[in-house]
Amino acid sequence: MKAIVHDRYGEADVLRLADVPKPVAQGKQVLVQVRAAGVDIGTWHLMAGRPYMVRLATGLRGPRQRIRGRDVAGVVEAVGPEVTRLRPGDEVYGTCDGSFAEYAVGAEKRLTRKPANLSFEEAAVVPISAGTAYEGLRSLHSGERALIIGAAGAVGSFAVQLAKARGAHVTGVCSTSKVELVRELGADKVIDYTREEIPAAAYEFVLDTAGNRSLKELRRALTPRGTLVIVGAETEGKLFGGIDRGLRAMLLSPFVGQRLSVLVSSENFQVYDALRELVEAGQVMPVIDRRYSLAEAPDAVRRLTETHARGKLVITV
Ligand SMILES: NC(=O)c1ccc[n+]([C@@H]2O[C@H](COP(=O)([O-])OP(=O)(O)OC[C@H]3O[C@@H](n4cnc5c(N)ncnc54)[C@H](OP(=O)(O)O)[C@@H]3O)[C@@H](O)[C@H]2O)c1
Repeated sequence: MKAIVHDRYGEADVLRLADVPKPVAQGKQVLVQVRAAGVDIGTWHLMAGRPYMVRLATGLRGPRQRIRGRDVAGVVEAVGPEVTRLRPGDEVYGTCDGSFAEYAVGAEKRLTRKPANLSFEEAAVVPISAGTAYEGLRSLHSGERALIIGAAGAVGSFAVQLAKARGAHVTGVCSTSKVELVRELGADKVIDYTREEIPAAAYEFVLDTAGNRSLKELRRALTPRGTLVIVGAETEGKLFGGIDRGLRAMLLSPFVGQRLSVLVSSENFQVYDALRELVEAGQVMPVIDRRYSLAEAPDAVRRLTETHARGKLVITV
């Protein structure tokens, strides 16, 4: 089968289209015939092996898993002997290792039935980003004032819609060219960060996906007993990324009135089931910036890192 592989860490140029053996589903695994694969920044981290800490898990000398891509939507081709919820022919979405390929194998617990009202392309961009937004907003209450930083990005575009669905008063933060998009997503107010400051002590809830503000700046936006959820950190240190900022937030949280937390999304089918219901009820819709063919996957990853996409990028297989 065709797949996008790489043998060393680096930028998008390390990716190439190759013929590789079709994987086999074992145990609790599901073999999916891939129809579309979402492109997310996590793919870049795994491809680049950055921050370097990532390599402890993915391989010190080079990537152990050669096929890239994690978000997936497609049709179940075969299931392992211990799979109970899914069967061949099911249209599914979720995450797996190696979705930039004609076939990919994923754990049953990370896959579920795809929303009926979405195409495969639309469904493929939901799991990682919407799942992260969904879990990040779990402690947001109806009526609270929520600030979504990075509101036009992959996680942020879902977070704005999900926060509205939870009954919050939502303010989105983005750059000038994306103000209109964030309004269309349902934000009650939009702050263009190139022109306007975020007001102090104005929000009961802050979700930071942009990852480039200090902990002090983020806390300044919160009310004295507000909640901060950090999901992103892209700009600090090559070794640890922004992990140190998250660690400081967690260490400080027990000693201050504000609740400061870091989210690591669980990527499980219960979250994707909940998202399917919201999507089918029309409360959440993916925003697709651009579509690519499998062979164009390097261009998609390049666009992800060289510009900030509006919503999500997707590869049609
Ligand atoms: N914790 C987890 O489990 C998990 C899961 C998924 C993703 N993440 C992380 O979450 C972060 C966001 O991921 P993503 O896929 O949503 O990335 P993305 O699509 O690039 O979104 C980031 C957004 O931040 C905005 N931004 C940049 N500088 C800003 C600033 N100073 N103020 C406000 N907004 C600013 C960018 O938009 P503009 O063009 O408007 O600047 C962009 O839309 C990444 O760090 C990723 O690694 C974490």
